[in-house]
Amino acid sequence: MTKNFQEAMAHRRSYYVLEDKSPISDNEIVEIVKQAVKHVPSAFNSQSTRVVVLLHDKHKKVWDITKEILKDMMPAEAFENTKEKIETSFQNGYGTLLFYEDQAPVKALQEQFPLYKQNFPVWSEHTNAMHQFAIWTMLEDAGFGVSVQHYNPIIDEKVAETFNIPADWKLIAQMPFGIPGAEPGEKEYQPLENRVLVP
Ligand SMILES: Cc1cc2nc3c(=O)[nH]c(=O)nc-3n(C[C@H](O)[C@H](O)[C@H](O)COP(=O)(O)O)c2cc1C
Repeated sequence: MTKNFQEAMAHRRSYYVLEDKSPISDNEIVEIVKQAVKHVPSAFNSQSTRVVVLLHDKHKKVWDITKEILKDMMPAEAFENTKEKIETSFQNGYGTLLFYEDQAPVKALQEQFPLYKQNFPVWSEHTNAMHQFAIWTMLEDAGFGVSVQHYNPIIDEKVAETFNIPADWKLIAQMPFGIPGAEPGEKEYQPLENRVLVP
């Protein structure tokens, strides 16, 4: 990382105009993902998060799938706006990460520790979110613009079939990234006094 952690965290924003270029090699993108997947914590060290790295034609494909599915679900006029947004903000980018949770370790833990049965699916989503945050921050530190999207569950089946995703993996989020085509607007911050209590 070029920035320290606090600087990188403050620099992270949602970028909605992307270009199909990369400031780093494809191997370096995969390394960022691997670093996070290796070091981000998980409940009971379950290591249930899975990340699929889609680059080039595979990245374009996931957004073609999303558009095809939405086209069949939406009124034609509304779909035109959605299509434009998907193309400008996501598909025009360089790559997309798919964040999954493997349900096999989650179920195994539920059986092993019945007392926490209700908690494991929740903790599984927590660890996935931690992975998203770490990778989002590192990709932007490397010079990408990134956002987080949720077209699941409507795209799950077609995406799984297209990219041979194991049946136990549950899609949690999509993360398109590319060189920023525009900077994000001003962000409003609610007063920290209301959000951080130091009794
Ligand atoms: C759990 C979570 C879910 C989000 N889902 C979406 C989403 O589906 N689509 C989207 O465009 N942004 C999504 N966002 C991005 C937020 O809208 C964004 O982070 C927030 O408005 C703050 O802006 P910033 O990312 O520029 O700091 C999500 C963020 C989080 C943390």
